[in-house]
Amino acid sequence: MTEVGNDVAKAAELLSRGLLVAIPTETVYGLAANALNEPAVLRIFEVKARPRFDPLIVHGADQDRLSTYVKDFPNWASTLAARFWPGPLTLVLPKKDIIPDLVTSGLSTVAVRVPLSPLTHELLLQVDFPLAAPSANPFGYVSPTTPSHVLDQLGGHIPYILNGGECSVGIESTIVAEESGKIHVLRLGGVSVEEIEALVGPVTIGGIEGSAPGTLKHHYATRTPLTLGPIDPLTVDTQRTGILSFQKRYPEIPLEHQVVLSPEGDLRKASSYLFAAMRHLDALGLRKILAEPFPEVGLGRAINDRLRRAANAA
Ligand code: TXA
Ligand code: MG
Repeated sequence: MTEVGNDVAKAAELLSRGLLVAIPTETVYGLAANALNEPAVLRIFEVKARPRFDPLIVHGADQDRLSTYVKDFPNWASTLAARFWPGPLTLVLPKKDIIPDLVTSGLSTVAVRVPLSPLTHELLLQVDFPLAAPSANPFGYVSPTTPSHVLDQLGGHIPYILNGGECSVGIESTIVAEESGKIHVLRLGGVSVEEIEALVGPVTIGGIEGSAPGTLKHHYATRTPLTLGPIDPLTVDTQRTGILSFQKRYPEIPLEHQVVLSPEGDLRKASSYLFAAMRHLDALGLRKILAEPFPEVGLGRAINDRLRRAANAA
């Protein structure tokens, strides 16, 4: 039985006993465990069917608490933390030994973040350990942005879902790391590349040799095959295709097969509904989903990244 509620003390008690709790954050719901308790962390990998080579993000109430788990915050990291925490930013930093290798898949670095959610913040203050939490979805599927998304997929496998309502950002955190003096954005997310570059100068988008597969190509997949491309109502099988568009509605296509993410053209709004829209279209049982490419600026880049990876899985 999985209970859904907003009892922070109960969540804290379950986590202290080594059990898993789904937690709200501003990005997506996380599947949390005590990051210092290896059997509990192992259970995360089991419940998600996640390969052990894909490391987890460690969440703390503030930068100060997270300093217990990383060797230090270099200037670039402190600058970004000061500006974006609490918020949708994850920093990859050299880890201290107290963080189990299981959490980091054996890497010498740990990904850390301070989420922005009143309930989860309160929870992180109540427990005396950090929370390891990947997105609360089966490995490879679209991330959950509401408690019912979590319940649909993990119901029965975890005791409690802390209900913080809908996620306001709706897309995962931006992951930033440094190598040889260069800043890399390993995963595009809720903080845009432009916002990061305004503080630390030009960054490289993409992985670091030997770093984790934060950028797995097949991910965020719907069960219905998804393709990414321009929407032309004259060439699509309108009866059997779900349409995901940014601003435009297509009169030639059945209304109930279309999701328009933001008629007014707001990329933040569009990203906050993206995963819910993908789930909605997936549930219609159509032959395919056609998503249009978004403008390659701001959060549009993160949206395109998720759509591209969903399309790769098709
Ligand atoms: O917004 C988010 O980041 C959400 C919420 C729950 O905080 N979490 C999330 O976790 O998206 P997850 O596990 O779905 O994605 C974390 C990504 C993984 O792809 C992993 O490869 C990368 O972070 N990662 C974790 N530790 C890393 C490290 N030490 N170096 C490089 N990448 C790392
Ligand atoms: Mg994930």
